[in-house]
Amino acid sequence: MRIILTGAGGTMGKTTVNASASHPECRIVAGVDKFADPKAFDFPVYTDIALVTEEADCLIDFSVKDALPGILKFITERKIPAVLCTTGYDDEDIAAINKASESVAILRSGNMSQGINALLKLVKEAAAALPGADIEVIETHHHNKSDAPSGTAKMLVEAAKSARPELVPVYGREGLVGKRKPEEIGVHAVRGGSVVGKHEVMFIMNNEVVTLKHEAENKGIFSEGAIRAGKFLIGKAPGLYSMSDVLG
Ligand SMILES: NC(=O)c1ccc[n+]([C@@H]2O[C@H](COP(=O)([O-])OP(=O)(O)OC[C@H]3O[C@@H](n4cnc5c(N)ncnc54)[C@H](O)[C@@H]3O)[C@@H](O)[C@H]2O)c1
Repeated sequence: MRIILTGAGGTMGKTTVNASASHPECRIVAGVDKFADPKAFDFPVYTDIALVTEEADCLIDFSVKDALPGILKFITERKIPAVLCTTGYDDEDIAAINKASESVAILRSGNMSQGINALLKLVKEAAAALPGADIEVIETHHHNKSDAPSGTAKMLVEAAKSARPELVPVYGREGLVGKRKPEEIGVHAVRGGSVVGKHEVMFIMNNEVVTLKHEAENKGIFSEGAIRAGKFLIGKAPGLYSMSDVLG
């Protein structure tokens, strides 16, 4: 599989370069990074995606929100399926991704790990099984993370909402916020140190609490998931795909 890697010089870009080395069938043919030093790579790295001329079977993106318009233009013109792993997209970005998916296969996920995708299913089940529980989502990440709450926390909220559509997210609490309303789903972002990613969903009832928790110990799990998703997308019809399509 020939891969174009956007955000090649970032933490996840480097992790994905390392992960791809253990897949003999994978080769990164080009990278894109606005700020990285091209001399640090053993494949060509461009500052702008429009400069990429290499042929590829898929694009894997771990970059920034601002790179999205260029990526969507490139993949729709070149008909290259894309795995979009960047988080922090707004509604306008999501609409642009949906539009682009009419002409090329796109998989977007705020979390590429197998464990989190299992957690999403468990949260949906627990929310249905405990309809009266107060639900709170707590995510913890390293101090370099720039968006909050995490893309995964948003996915966990959506998983709970799929069983309890009345839920309304409340991000952090400060001041005289009044009594907690039953339809609230609290979302809290903790930042510090080198934590790769921890997500907890608490189902709080009178006198008992169920907590579902996932801890990522190594960023390689996200790259492995992205590579697996890239392989899945090859030959797929245009459309929007998810990690549950990949993992079954
Ligand atoms: N979906 C997942 O499973 C998952 C897992 C981990 C991280 N992420 C997300 O991936 C993204 C990258 O994470 P990171 O920790 O590697 O961040 P990072 O800041 O280390 O890397 C981002 C890279 O993008 C580059 N960049 C900036 N502007 C660019 C542009 N216009 N085009 C191409 N590259 C550009 C930067 O120079 C940098 O090297 C974040 O949004 C993060 O939340 C997703």
